[in-house]
Amino acid sequence: MTSYTLALLPGDGIGRDVMAEAEKVLSVIEQLTPISLTTNKIPCGGEHYLDTGEEWPEGSFEFCRDEADAILLGAVGWPGAITEDGDLAGGSVILGLRSGLDLYANVRPIRLYEGVRHKIHGEFTQVWKPGMVDMLIIRENTEGLYHSLLRRSADKAQGRDAWEPHTMEFPGLEGEVAWDPRPISRHGSERVIRYAFDAAKRRNGAPGDGKTRVTCVDKSNVTRGCQLFNRVYHEIAEDYPDTETDHAYIDAFCMWAVRNPEWFDVVVTPNMFGDISTDLASVLQGGMGIAASANLGDKHGMFEPVHGSAPKYTGQNTTNPMAMINSVSLMFDWLGETKNDADCKAIAELIDKAVTKTLTGDKLTYDLGGTSGTSEVGDIIVSTLETLLRKHFAVA
Ligand code: IPM
Ligand code: MN
Repeated sequence: MTSYTLALLPGDGIGRDVMAEAEKVLSVIEQLTPISLTTNKIPCGGEHYLDTGEEWPEGSFEFCRDEADAILLGAVGWPGAITEDGDLAGGSVILGLRSGLDLYANVRPIRLYEGVRHKIHGEFTQVWKPGMVDMLIIRENTEGLYHSLLRRSADKAQGRDAWEPHTMEFPGLEGEVAWDPRPISRHGSERVIRYAFDAAKRRNGAPGDGKTRVTCVDKSNVTRGCQLFNRVYHEIAEDYPDTETDHAYIDAFCMWAVRNPEWFDVVVTPNMFGDISTDLASVLQGGMGIAASANLGDKHGMFEPVHGSAPKYTGQNTTNPMAMINSVSLMFDWLGETKNDADCKAIAELIDKAVTKTLTGDKLTYDLGGTSGTSEVGDIIVSTLETLLRKHFAVA
């Protein structure tokens, strides 16, 4: 029997609510498949920091690094939860892992499922048809504008003195100045851009014309970091002659993504641009209630919904659990790929099927126009998945 160890990091707010639904999914998988799962739930985040004075228990980073085969994260961030040095409490968890485990590719699929209406102009409409939206946005995840905080978080997570950037003079500026360096390295760019080109090979091309295309999204007309990113992109592209190259400045990309989403297949972009554009792009697929992500490195993987902790919705039983459950699917897909495990691959697909089927029904959360609660939607997905798993794994 293949056995996997999972670190579960519920974090703050609705992160905990959706983690509860993910656990139901894991438990039915544990029951009905040949796979055995050992889970270790670790309390963490901003609220935990306010309660205990630590972002997570000592040894948690090491557990994620040395023991866990994969990491599932809910969300971090709680009102008023700032560490002594002024950083986001919970940052050691999410950013410490991204940086400390070298999870350089933040992979965020944007796909519009059948039956989903999206909410623009405050009303449910269907501007884009399901076949028109199917892109993969790949966000660089270890440097750029996040570099300082990522570095500090990784240091703190591993009990080291936290790194601070040196001071610098800014001609023409007076009074108090706060600043964040935005270093972009050749090495950091190469690995994420190569990841993007390889990911494009495994897909069916852009929904509009079927062409395999990698779009480099940057601001190379303005920043030196983006100029390097763009240069590296063109160098790597030479190794992939069958893939179409494409470029958009981040501002224009935001416009094109909304106007012509069918043009995009794989998009690769520096850290902060990826953070912002994936919130925007989530609207194309019905919103944050659905958007999932995978933080991947060469050795480790952490999976989380794109949405945050949404403190005011905590415990209301209103949040859509699908973004989290889709992240569980991404986790099994990655385990299947990296451990060469066909059962995990099948599980990933069946979770996706269960979500797809649930989306065509009328039991949905408010963000998709329904009136059902978090746990009800979770239960429907789980029971649909149960049927699919029984059939696939021939369990009576
Ligand atoms: C995300 C989140 C995080 C980020 C926050 C919580 C630090 O917004 O995963 O997109 O900015 O990366
Ligand atoms: Mn974000």
